[in-house]
Amino acid sequence: MDPYKTIIACTNQKGGCAKTTTAVNLATSLAEGNPKLGIPPSKVLLIDLDPQGNASTSFGVDKRLDVPTVYELLMQPTGEDLNVHDFLIGPDILTDEMQRSFKNMNQDQRIPKRLKVENLYLLPSNIRLSGAEIELATKLGRETRLREALAPVMDDFDHIIIDTPPSLGLLTINALAAANWILVPVQAEYYALEGMSQLMNSIRLIQRRVNNHLKLFGIAVTMYTPRSKLSQFVESEVRKHFGEDVFQTVIPRLMAIAEAPKDGAPVVLLKNPTKGNKGSKQYWALAKESHLRIMKRRAEFGVNPESVLRREAIKQGDPEHIWNDIGE
Ligand SMILES: Nc1ncnc2c1ncn2[C@@H]1O[C@H](COP(=O)(O)OP(=O)(O)O)[C@@H](O)[C@H]1O
Ligand SMILES: [Mg+2]
Repeated sequence: MDPYKTIIACTNQKGGCAKTTTAVNLATSLAEGNPKLGIPPSKVLLIDLDPQGNASTSFGVDKRLDVPTVYELLMQPTGEDLNVHDFLIGPDILTDEMQRSFKNMNQDQRIPKRLKVENLYLLPSNIRLSGAEIELATKLGRETRLREALAPVMDDFDHIIIDTPPSLGLLTINALAAANWILVPVQAEYYALEGMSQLMNSIRLIQRRVNNHLKLFGIAVTMYTPRSKLSQFVESEVRKHFGEDVFQTVIPRLMAIAEAPKDGAPVVLLKNPTKGNKGSKQYWALAKESHLRIMKRRAEFGVNPESVLRREAIKQGDPEHIWNDIGE
């Protein structure tokens, strides 16, 4: 596995700690980029590996849509030649779905101009995936099916982000076998701390048995209530234990973040990242920090690859179209 590839599993066995919200907003902001913040656009694949399909519905993708999903991908007989691209929902359809669902919910409003993606691809999921834990159990290579399926398209994307279910079952193990980084969202509430040591033990086990490339990308404190003594306590405990691994950016608990899935689009697209839109602003700040971490680690490994988007633009004779600050 390429040590510099960003394949991030967004994982925590606890439910409701903002795994999906974080995966969706990070994937979107890294894909679209933001020149003001110094984040170049990148080609990003977001994998919804939760049978609840919340990452898919975050873009207004109708779960009843009869499209092939990550379930069909995982269930293919091994050795079968399959084209992962056939399973992906590309930027055009994602944009259509977001705009359609925004219009449904806000009939009197104009669709915001920012409500579009150009570089984001989604491998969707739906409830069929709930059978996978059991069906995979008897299959050969059950822990590495996702890794094998992704291998042929690894170089087609700059970043791959995987949203996982709230358990450490076979689906999450598949995510952790395919990834080389783990991002752990931690909800700023008391019980969050209890789950962390269990999670770290499980990660060590996966590192030993399934994937020795796996490393901690970062810990993000989410659903932080400003002025709450409990939130402050949890944040300081997490920082005490995990130091530099914890992102400086803290995601506050905000209605705008909770409401975004209703409008069928990530908050980073629905709202401008301004002072008045703290939810969007903080997720963009998390994307900036993530981008800098990715650059730093690439530099440590001595690799500065040109972004996939830029390579594609050069091939089409239009390199000016895509800027990147890789290597700067
Ligand atoms: N910062 C936040 N402020 C308010 N609500 C949030 C925030 N982050 C997530 N939520 C909401 O909390 C619920 C759980 O978040 P979700 O991302 O689905 O967690 P998980 O994927 O870990 O189960 C969802 O309804 C989501 O919209
Ligand atoms: Mg989720």
